[in-house]
Amino acid sequence: MTVRAIDQFGRTIEYLRISVTDKCNFRCLYCMPAEGLQWLPRSDLLSYEEITGIVARLAGLGLRRLRITGGEPTIRPQLHKLIAMLRQIPRIEDIALSTNGVSLPSLANDLAAAGLDRVNISADSLQPERLARISRRKLDFDPIVSALAAERAGLDPVKINVVVMRGINDDEIVDFARLTFDHAWHIRFIELMPVGGMRDVTWEHVVPSDEVIERASMLGALSPCDAPVQGNGPAAYYRFAGAEGTIGVITPMSHTYCATCNRVRLTADGRLRTCLFGDHEVNLRDAYRGGEDLEPIFRQALAAKPLEHELLQMKIGGLRALSQVGG
Ligand code: 5AD
Ligand code: SF4
Repeated sequence: MTVRAIDQFGRTIEYLRISVTDKCNFRCLYCMPAEGLQWLPRSDLLSYEEITGIVARLAGLGLRRLRITGGEPTIRPQLHKLIAMLRQIPRIEDIALSTNGVSLPSLANDLAAAGLDRVNISADSLQPERLARISRRKLDFDPIVSALAAERAGLDPVKINVVVMRGINDDEIVDFARLTFDHAWHIRFIELMPVGGMRDVTWEHVVPSDEVIERASMLGALSPCDAPVQGNGPAAYYRFAGAEGTIGVITPMSHTYCATCNRVRLTADGRLRTCLFGDHEVNLRDAYRGGEDLEPIFRQALAAKPLEHELLQMKIGGLRALSQVGG
């Protein structure tokens, strides 16, 4: 029998995003203040053994797909060891990684060999100076080289996430879109969410996805197409005639995806968050360390998963940076 985890609104929850660190080697304008955040103490972080133990238990309750996130997950040492441990868990069908791509040229082969299936690379510009300005770090790195490294390592599909910001990188929409003609990559344009008290990006920087598609269409007609991987994500996909890759849009600002939300999140310090926004979380770390049964805790958390978040209604102040809640 197929075990399923169902929340109070009948949504099947089978996708877990696992944050392995809240730290990052970038300070993206829309994510973190330049001075960084108050980092979690090392002892609060789940060990790889603890993450694996928790996921194994949740897999028994219906969890099927995983995404490793941060902060920047690849700055946690020996990440491939965690991937290898998670790969051993029965019923886990898909393991993906979200990364800023800086370390993919050096790590992609090890991660793939350990059992990583695929990767999402965040890249907000193809221009080195501009990328340094958006990420507030000058690192020697080229997102195209990272995507090629991922592809060569056999990670498939390769997706590239671009947060579009008016007046900051929106003039590169066509440059990113053009990549799909020759590369089997999926370029996903994400609507900026001006959350977390960031001072450098505001509502004025939000570019609605309809406008993104319109601007990308300067290169040719875009036709709707199927998602490169079924099931996880809320993106809508399009393709230029004859192109290798696709273009996707993710529209947290102009639409909500709450009705089909299939995901929960595990923070680096072991709290299960059932909604990206708002304060719906339970401490799985202490329960796991105390040898408690996670099933009733998990089921209660799902029973309290909200129907939708309140971001669009602007009801909540003090939203946390996405790096702290695992994107
Ligand atoms: N708005 C939109 N996307 C965000 N991300 C993080 N913060 C935000 C935000 N405020 C997403 C982007 C980025 C990834 C690491 O997290 O996709 O590429
Ligand atoms: Fe780091 Fe990603 Fe946040 Fe940028 S968006 S600072 S790469 S966690």
